[in-house]
Amino acid sequence: MATLRSVKGMNDILPPESSRWHRVERCFSSVTQSYGFQEVRTPLVEPTALFQRAIGDATDIVEKEMYSFVDKGDASLTLRPEATAACVRAYVQHNVQSREPVSKWSYAGPMFRRERPAKGRYRQFYQLGAEVYGDQGPYIDAELIEMATSVLRQLGIQDIEVQLNSLGSASTRHRYREALRDYLQPQAAKLSEDSQRRLERNPLRILDSKSPDDQAITAQGPKIHEFIDASDRAHFDSLCTLLSKLNVKVTLNQGLVRGLDYYTRTLFEIQGHNANLGAQSALCGGGRYDTLIPSLGGSECPAVGFAMGVERLLLSLPETPLPSNLDVFMVVIGEEWLGEGMQLMQMLRAQGFRVDADLRGQSLRSQMRRADKSGARFALLLGDDEVAKAQVQLRDLQNKDTQHVRRDELLVYLRQSVDSQA
Ligand code: HAM
Repeated sequence: MATLRSVKGMNDILPPESSRWHRVERCFSSVTQSYGFQEVRTPLVEPTALFQRAIGDATDIVEKEMYSFVDKGDASLTLRPEATAACVRAYVQHNVQSREPVSKWSYAGPMFRRERPAKGRYRQFYQLGAEVYGDQGPYIDAELIEMATSVLRQLGIQDIEVQLNSLGSASTRHRYREALRDYLQPQAAKLSEDSQRRLERNPLRILDSKSPDDQAITAQGPKIHEFIDASDRAHFDSLCTLLSKLNVKVTLNQGLVRGLDYYTRTLFEIQGHNANLGAQSALCGGGRYDTLIPSLGGSECPAVGFAMGVERLLLSLPETPLPSNLDVFMVVIGEEWLGEGMQLMQMLRAQGFRVDADLRGQSLRSQMRRADKSGARFALLLGDDEVAKAQVQLRDLQNKDTQHVRRDELLVYLRQSVDSQA
């Protein structure tokens, strides 16, 4: 019988690799908490119409990449390709705006896009994200961008570039789109196939094109900053000043448009330069979306946020040894003492120690081999002698020192040794 495999572009995360994921998730959660964010959890599945309305019908995500299906009750549903739309749906649905002037939400979880799988680009991938509602910036925009760089720094990811742009208000964006289309139309035949297709429905995306011919054409075309109005410009200029005050170096990229239609004003992306990333160098992307909440049925409310891809963060992480997930490995000599050993483990675990053992009644040698491989700091040996004398043998697996410790002194002893290592 053919063996079943995971869906293409959707990966298993096995131990011990999962502990690297925990490290990234813990770091994100502790940094965001230190900026006053609280976690939101929304369903993995939402009505298809939510993403069509929020992300935009003419985007790659909605046109080509969504996992949409009709359920048994004839509802058209979609596995979320991103979380901003779902967070806004929840924010409006629960009328959060009436309870607090500003909300700072963070989230972590899988997203689904049917893209062509490559290194750093998957069909199920994980995002860590943050969204702020009720603040029109630019101070909060600066804080968010600084927070994103702080997450990367704390993870040890050094070589990054923050790219920044402003799309202006929705009407600026609209005027710019028209001007860009008018400029590109006469040379449409020279554009790549993808860009020709985008010309009518989403010409801004042509600015993102990787084709050198397209890039040469757009380089000569109109620039967004010729279109943004005085208040958009003031917003953007203050943001740049604030970021420089916060020591965040940015590069202005007027070609940065990003693949989602809801953005207004601030737009940013953080590129990583680690060679492991290959072509998928965007570690983090985000921006302001001041019109999305009203367009999904809420009242006027400015919003800004970002998301980073966990897999890409992991590809960029410096190589560090995996931390041990155990303090003690229990070794029981003689199956008759297994019950006694399990009582001891129960007591140690209740005191917060991480303890494992081989409960199959194996030989001393085989148990010691597992203890050595387990990464635990100590092996705790229990046999006839130890039971008779109410002792245990404690072997330090790093320096191989062995001591006999009285049972009633074990906790104090272990606490000192494990704490001094932490
Ligand atoms: P996005 O740029 O589509 O933005 O995705 C954000 C990040 O998710 C990317 O920078 C990348 O690290 C990661 N990512 C995206 N697609 C994939 C993929 N197929 N495989 C692996 N990683 C991927 C958003 O999703 C917006 N919701 C961000 C946002 C939040 N804007 C405002 N608030």
